Amino acid sequence: MEIDWKNLGFEFMPVKSNIRYHYANGKWGAGKLYNDDSLTLSVASNCLHYGQAAFEGLKAFTCKDGKVRVFRAPANSKRLNSSTGHLLMPAITEEMFLEAVNAVVKDNIDYVPPYGTGGALYIRPVIVGTSPQIGISASEEYEFIVLVVPVGPYYKNGIKPVDAYLVEEFDRAAPAGTGHIKIAGNYAASLSPTKLAKAKGCSVALFLDAATHEHIEEFGTSNFAGITRDGTYVTPLSPSILPSITNMSLIKLAERNGIKVERRPIHKSELAEFVEVGACGTAVVITPIGRIVHQGRDYCYGNEIGPVLKQLYDMMTGIHYGEKPDEFGWMMEVER
Ligand code: PLP
Ligand code: COI
Repeated sequence: MEIDWKNLGFEFMPVKSNIRYHYANGKWGAGKLYNDDSLTLSVASNCLHYGQAAFEGLKAFTCKDGKVRVFRAPANSKRLNSSTGHLLMPAITEEMFLEAVNAVVKDNIDYVPPYGTGGALYIRPVIVGTSPQIGISASEEYEFIVLVVPVGPYYKNGIKPVDAYLVEEFDRAAPAGTGHIKIAGNYAASLSPTKLAKAKGCSVALFLDAATHEHIEEFGTSNFAGITRDGTYVTPLSPSILPSITNMSLIKLAERNGIKVERRPIHKSELAEFVEVGACGTAVVITPIGRIVHQGRDYCYGNEIGPVLKQLYDMMTGIHYGEKPDEFGWMMEVER
């Protein structure tokens, strides 16, 4: 296995194994590691036609002391259950979720990027309805899979700013829809708006609230955070955005370090007021936004990450890589 650890992007590559649990007759079976990344399904599986599919994303890091640790896995477990509950899928206990994450990371420990390379092992839990059926109803059978892949930065240039297109032509999520959970359909719905953003010369789509198109919601891959002139961290409050574990963690770190935080609706006119804008999430960590394009106007936030987002980025990645104290008990060690 030859991996160029320093130049990893965010792309699939085969690893040693994934772990799978099957649900049938009202209960989950035991987890089993598979050395094969293909899955046999009925052509009538519910997930293929009707999208009964939910997923999560979290990361394991090789820390400074050489140990491998996973960031905030219980929070992902909780969020997965809010997704499965909404889609009438069976719950996964935190015990089973953590067992799966531990087992698959341990089995693929050689794929966790070494300390100092800036990479991570991305962990992707996914649950899909597998019963063959043609009528629309919840599946009787499910597969819970946790796969892993070594990754570097989501956007090519690391923490160099990327441009965003503020979308008026499409909506991501309705107010009482599914924007607050992490389900496959939300991402299928973001493909066309992201294609449009790219056609406008931007890497990411930034969405408005579907009801009024007045307020900023989030990016297709991450939450939105703006920094005001007086150094306040402002992030949207809305029922239709995904509660980002990264964003919640940044809020905690900000408050702990004397940075004022506001979680409230953000009117799109406020884009002119921010001095820094960032996208935050597991895959993107904190990616600075250099420019937001909206109806012929460019809102510019600089060619480098700004000082407040940089301070938060350093605090967050310092915890990830075990360089700073894990004050909140966010890191879980994986036994080798
Ligand atoms: N918003 C969307 C739409 C996402 O896909 C993600 C990624 O998971 C996030 C926000 C960030 O969430 P988290 O920080 O939990 O990864
Ligand atoms: C994550 O950050 O974990 C996500 O699921 C975002 C996805 C677009 C890669």
